[in-house]
Amino acid sequence: MLEELKQLKQEIMEKCDQVSTTKELNEIRVEYLGKKGPIQAMSSKMGSLSIEEKKEFGRSLNTLKTEINERLETKKQELEQKELEERLQKETIDITLPSTELTVGGVHPITQIINQVEELFVSMGYDVVEGPEVELDLYNFELLNLPKGHPARDSQDSFYITDEVLLRTQTSPVQARTMEANKEKKPIRVICPGKTYRRDNDDATHSHQFHQIEGLVVDENISLADLKGTLEILAKTMFGEDREIRLRPSFFPFTEPSLEVDVSCFKCGGKGCSLCKGTGWIEILGSGMVHPNVLRDNGYDPEKYTGFAFGVGPERIAMLKYGITDIRDFYTNDLRFLNDFNRVEGGE
Ligand code: DAH
Repeated sequence: MLEELKQLKQEIMEKCDQVSTTKELNEIRVEYLGKKGPIQAMSSKMGSLSIEEKKEFGRSLNTLKTEINERLETKKQELEQKELEERLQKETIDITLPSTELTVGGVHPITQIINQVEELFVSMGYDVVEGPEVELDLYNFELLNLPKGHPARDSQDSFYITDEVLLRTQTSPVQARTMEANKEKKPIRVICPGKTYRRDNDDATHSHQFHQIEGLVVDENISLADLKGTLEILAKTMFGEDREIRLRPSFFPFTEPSLEVDVSCFKCGGKGCSLCKGTGWIEILGSGMVHPNVLRDNGYDPEKYTGFAFGVGPERIAMLKYGITDIRDFYTNDLRFLNDFNRVEGGE
């Protein structure tokens, strides 16, 4: 049996010399020192030996175990060191290699305009609300004083899905939805940015899908002076402190009176140039005092409440502000175009 121990020792030591990974080394440990291994088997055989033999064999077995453990331990340290070195070697960073360019996305120019307008109106106590893009004819037209057959519907050529459902042609339906949702008929101060759709053929100044920002204020004693003051702040915020606004009479079915708002030309300062076509003024939005029919149809007593509303196109603002001549540039996602706006948001 002592001979067997010797052979076993030799076998294990040889195996230890050959292994090249800590994983293999661990397998040796399990194979020889484990419960089903030869060492355990030998110690179970001791029972058949005489006391003297038992003593000697036991001692030898213990020595063998200690030697094996020591060998396994030194081998383990060796291999760990080797593996660490290999890993460090593999993970070495070659700092002389050229870097890969890190590109960061930017905020789309239309979103930037919407964010600026939102920020302004939120600072004046407005809520930002949303409405559905797939809208009922009821909200898009009827509750805005545009009954079926009204000629003004023709100016907003619509994508109808059924007779009663369409892609909203304007953000104005959110006016009706907001008034309807306000069950206690309390004062309202909201803006609503969003996508709108019209059956236009796309060209440099038309897009079948574009954006609007709707504004609505309803309260007691709201007057045209409130509208004018509010839009003046909007014009100055978007186009510069020195801007002035001018109101011209217009027609929208949902406002009375209706007004078109011009801003003094920010390129020539009002003297007249190619941008303002020599007039000194540039049209920026439509607005007016909420029509009594609209107030009434949406549950507000027009004898008690008045209001103003406006609708502004972020595309138009961005085109004017940044000198963009083709509206399609906003949607075709050419990075050479978009990167021009890729500055810190709101920064100029
Ligand atoms: N919805 C109108 C349009 O698409 C714009 C507009 C004009 C909105 C006057 C308003 C408003 O709220 O009062 O042409």
